[in-house]
Parts: sequence; C-alpha cells; structure tokens
Amino acid sequence: MRRTLFNANTDRMTYGIREMVELAARVGALDPNFGFIGENIGDPVAKGWDAPGFVKRIVADLVRARDNKVFGYTHSYGRIETRRWVADYARRYSPSSRLDGDHVVFTNGLGSAISIFYRTLKKGTRIIQPSPAYPAHYSTECFAAGAASISYRLDPDKGWSPDLAHLERQIRRYPQIAGILVINPNNPTGAVYDAPTLEAIIRLAERYKLMLISDEVYFRMVYNNCRYIHMTELVGRRVPLVVMRGISKDVPWPGARCGWMEFHNTDLDADFASFFESIKKTLMMEVCSTTLPQMALPLIYDHPEFNRWNARYTKELERNGNAIAGILRQTPGLRVPPIQGAFYMMALFNPKVLNARQTLPIACAAVRAFIRKAVAKPNLPLDKRFAYYLLASTGICVVPATDFASSNPGFRITTLDRNPSRRDRVYRTLSASIQRYLAS
Ligand SMILES: Cc1ncc(COP(=O)(O)O)c(C=O)c1O
Repeated sequence: MRRTLFNANTDRMTYGIREMVELAARVGALDPNFGFIGENIGDPVAKGWDAPGFVKRIVADLVRARDNKVFGYTHSYGRIETRRWVADYARRYSPSSRLDGDHVVFTNGLGSAISIFYRTLKKGTRIIQPSPAYPAHYSTECFAAGAASISYRLDPDKGWSPDLAHLERQIRRYPQIAGILVINPNNPTGAVYDAPTLEAIIRLAERYKLMLISDEVYFRMVYNNCRYIHMTELVGRRVPLVVMRGISKDVPWPGARCGWMEFHNTDLDADFASFFESIKKTLMMEVCSTTLPQMALPLIYDHPEFNRWNARYTKELERNGNAIAGILRQTPGLRVPPIQGAFYMMALFNPKVLNARQTLPIACAAVRAFIRKAVAKPNLPLDKRFAYYLLASTGICVVPATDFASSNPGFRITTLDRNPSRRDRVYRTLSASIQRYLAS
C-alpha cells in the first residue's frame, strides 16, 4: 500500500471473551466430536432465556402497525418520546434527578456508546478503569488514548470492592485522568457496591474535579439480600455524571443493539457541557440508533408483567450463582469471592498453584498438537494456558482473568445456565478438571 493502513494502536484492543470462541472454532474444525460448552459470553438468550411472551407481543404489534414507523430512521440522538421516558424513569428511583430527554442519547447497543464516548474525548485525557475490567471499556479507552490503561484495583478479599486508597493514589499520580469509570453491578466480578463505597468515589470526583461514568447495564440483576444504590441517588448536583444503560441484559434483548447514555449535571461544568455537544455531533455521523427497540422499550419496562418477569429472572440467577459458587468453593487451589449481582463470577487461583508444565488429557491427537503449539506462545499467561487445556479437554469455555486485565490469574464464568442438572455437571467437571490440572 502507498500508505500504511494498519493502526498499531489496535494491538491495544483485546476481547478475550470472543477470542476464546475463535479458539473453540479451530478445535471444532480439528475434532468432529468436540462439544462446545460456552460459559464465556453473557448472552441470556444463548443460555436458554426466551424473550418473554409480552415482549414478543409488543414487538410484533409494533412491526404490524400501519404507520411503518419502526422501519424508518429516528432522530440522531434517539426518539424524543423514548428519551423523555428515560429521563422520567430516572426520577422514579432518584426523585431529585434533573435529567431531561435532551440529555439522553441513544446508541446501537451500549458497546457503541462506549466506543463513541472514548473516541470523542480529547486525546491524552484519560478515564481510570477498574481492574479487573470489562474489555470493551478498557480496550477502547486504551485504543483512543494510544497508551496503556490506567486502572484502580478491585479487591477480591473485600468482595471485589474498589481499593479506594489505590484509586486516590492513581488519581494523584496521573493528572491526565478526567473521569472514573464505575461498573455496578460489576462485570466481570458480580460485585454490587454499597452506599459508603459509592459515596467515597463521589467524594474523590468532587475533590479532584473529575466526572463519573457509571455503567449500570446490570442494575436490575441484584440479589443475595443486596440493595442496589443508584449513583444518581447519591450524586445529586455534586459532580458531572454519565450513566450508561441498555436493554441487552434485562429484557433480555442483546440482538436489539440498543443502549443509551444519560448526561447528568451538564450545567455544573462548561467543559462537560461541551463534551456532551461533541458526543451529539459524533452521533450524527452514525445517523441514528435502531428504531424498533427504542419504540418498544417504554412499553416493555412499563408493562405490568415486567417486574414479575424480572423478579423470577433475578431469583434464578441468584440460585444459579450460589449453586455454582458452592461447587467451585470445594475446589482446592481456587478462591471464589461472593457475588451479589449481574450474571458473572470471577474465580481466582491461589498464588503459585499454576505452572507452565500442567496439562489436561486431550483425546484427539490433532487437537492435542494444536493446543501444545498454542500454549508454547512466549509469555502466555498461566490462566490462559489453563483455559486452553480446559476447552480442548472438556469443551468448557471460560475466559482467563488476565483477559480482564486482572493481576491475579483465574477465570470468569457466566451463571446463566437454566438447566440445573447440566449446570451442576458442567461445574463439577470444571472443578474436577482444575484439581487434575493442578496435580498434573
Ligand atoms: C458492563 C457492560 N457494559 C456494556 C456492555 C455492552 O452491552 P450491549 O449489549 O448493550 O452492547 C456489556 C456487555 O456484556 C457489559 O457487560
């Protein structure tokens, strides 16, 4: 090529969740008997959660409507009626919220909101990320900044809550930080933060003049006697705040590609207000977000059956998560912190139990050779090596913790499987495989 096409910054982007799927496809091509058991992607529909009947009826009625509106574009920032509904909805749980529909913008899934958000920031301005982290946030932030991630520790010994002293040290050390990302309930850890923790983060934002970004895509999935505290309840008029939400996880309708950002308190800071204007410009370049889910969304969340459906869903997630944690906690060499929300769990290997000689039996010779070659890659993290062997030996696909920028080796799993006997079988196999791997 006359000019180089390849942007080396793309090397900063990793998405281990789907990279494991590619590995599984290659194993499947080598071994016709390979049976894939995906515990890697947080897609409730793929794990047997049907879209509820009332959701299907709402969607079908919208598609059949004579006005054909669902087939057209919407406004670039989203359909105004839905944006107003979002602002009214925010007031239901945070009555002091002054959000209006003009400060809500729709995107093609929250994934797209995340990408637009970091791409639009001034180059060199950084958002501190939790570690372990959700890859779409930290990878896109690194890509946009052209530099390594700046992160704060989540502490597995304290139920994965943020290490606030570390967060403050990092904010002082890196003056380029302009905002703190909080993912609550958290992916990948399953933690839900209490009011004192959120309050301490807000105080740091106040003290160092930072904005807060609160990814709340899992806010309806909270259990084990935990109450969800909305960031907006505590923030009030104190700091600029961006709340990110979507319909992928709770309707659940991940294929709708529908998410949104709420810009709270733009009047507090002129720079924050200008940043919001530049986000809107970027959105115009995208033309608009998907119309059908925007039209369906208020009808779904206000439907009398929604709360009943969500209560059942959350109860089952609680049962599943606790059953899986119970099995994994009996595995020597493994640490499983408690979970309170979302549908993920991150299990950690105890220090020094992993080494680069451990293996699991792999029946198919071609797959065995392939995995041996794959794990010979220089500097392959030890938890990735385990995940490769586990996949090839049992079909179980977990995501290595280091793919979430975790400093501790381990793996993340989803807790979505609806079939109790299959779920228990899979996690007993996982537990037995860990014991076998560690003893090999
Ligand atoms: C914390 C978090 N934010 C955002 C997303 C993206 O969601 P969407 O399907 O709306 O793009 C996910 C998806 O797994 C997520 O876990």
